[in-house]
Amino acid sequence: MASSQKFIIVAIDGGAASGKSSTSRGLSERFNFLHVDTGSFYRAVTYQLRQAGENPAEAASIAQALKTFKLGTLITGRDAMIKINDWVPGDEIRSQEINESVSLFAAVPAVRGFLLDYQRDQATVARENSFDGLIMEGRDIGSIIFPDADHRFFLQADLEARAQRRISEGQNDKIAERDRLDSTRKISPLVCPAGATLIDSTYLSLDEVVDLIAKKIQAD
Ligand code: DC
Repeated sequence: MASSQKFIIVAIDGGAASGKSSTSRGLSERFNFLHVDTGSFYRAVTYQLRQAGENPAEAASIAQALKTFKLGTLITGRDAMIKINDWVPGDEIRSQEINESVSLFAAVPAVRGFLLDYQRDQATVARENSFDGLIMEGRDIGSIIFPDADHRFFLQADLEARAQRRISEGQNDKIAERDRLDSTRKISPLVCPAGATLIDSTYLSLDEVVDLIAKKIQAD
């Protein structure tokens, strides 16, 4: 390990385009944390299941297909990316087809169960690679994956501000529909967990959000 200071786990949850990725990346730079975007994990699994011809309504068939997926992690800079059978996802997981189907696959219990321990194991990956902590973003990080995280934040912003962010990224993404599906699914729905710090970034710049969270992390 590079240092003897306490290893810190930070959970960042929020709806689609709520600024989780840019904020988490900024914080990972500031604190030498490993940044883990679990949305990219669900996107990658969705991509591979679609390639295998799977349908989100066929849970048993999905469970069989998942048995053939061997997971690994590739670290680039401070970002962790999932590997599935040595395939490393790229821009293909941000396509319109994936935007439209990822919430359906993410609601399948076998898919969530498949990624559960893998997500928790990222803390070990971070420690083994001499990071000073882990910052993990998603929908259920502070509620299910790391309910005992040292810090838990929930980001929100007005729908219009979030839609504008996606448009400026050149993305076709029905974020209101994804949020509806993600918040109403039976298993691990998108929620602001009790005890998490809620941050509304509608009128804040990225730097302001990063500063706000950094101050809270440093205050402890
Ligand atoms: O963060 P994102 O928008 O790239 O996430 C894509 C989808 O993945 C999101 O609509 C729901 C699912 N997801 C999830 O169910 N649980 C997580 N922890 C992260 C993402």
